[in-house]
Amino acid sequence: MKRMVLLILLIAGAALLVGAGALPQVRSIELPPDNPMSQLKPGPGVEVVRADCVACHSTDYIVRQPRGDAKRWGAEVKKMISVYGAPVDEADAKVVVNYLATAYGPAEAKETKEKSSAKPGAKTP
Ligand code: HEC
Repeated sequence: MKRMVLLILLIAGAALLVGAGALPQVRSIELPPDNPMSQLKPGPGVEVVRADCVACHSTDYIVRQPRGDAKRWGAEVKKMISVYGAPVDEADAKVVVNYLATAYGPAEAKETKEKSSAKPGAKTP
């Protein structure tokens, strides 16, 4: 009787293995934490950038770039897709470009410059 139970368990186990083999293999890897300098600024769409843009390189590549507008970042994302084969669909690409042009866009650079050089009463009528 014990043998029978064992046999049934073995067969069930084998069936499970075969079943699992028929499923598409989903593999995932855990990346080590990136260096603190490379952390993306918070903002709308940042999670899409984290999902789409770290498979091949660190976000260092993004945060160390000179600032740019949507046109410049758009060209960058397009290059990632067409030259390097980044698996980013059109909807995601839009979100990524929006995020980059906001978080790493020229507007913020200008803003901080204006703030530091703003003189009270400098406006002439
Ligand atoms: C399929 C792989 C891959 C993915 C995914 C990827 N990149 Fe890249 N990226 C590269 C390669 C390759 C380089 C060039 C590396 C080098 O020259 O040393 C690069 C370089 C860069 C650079 C540096 C400037 C340049 O043009 O070389 C930036 C900025 C960049 N990637 C942004 C992004 C963004 C934003 C995303 C997400 C939309 C992304 N990457 C996704 C492969 C990828």
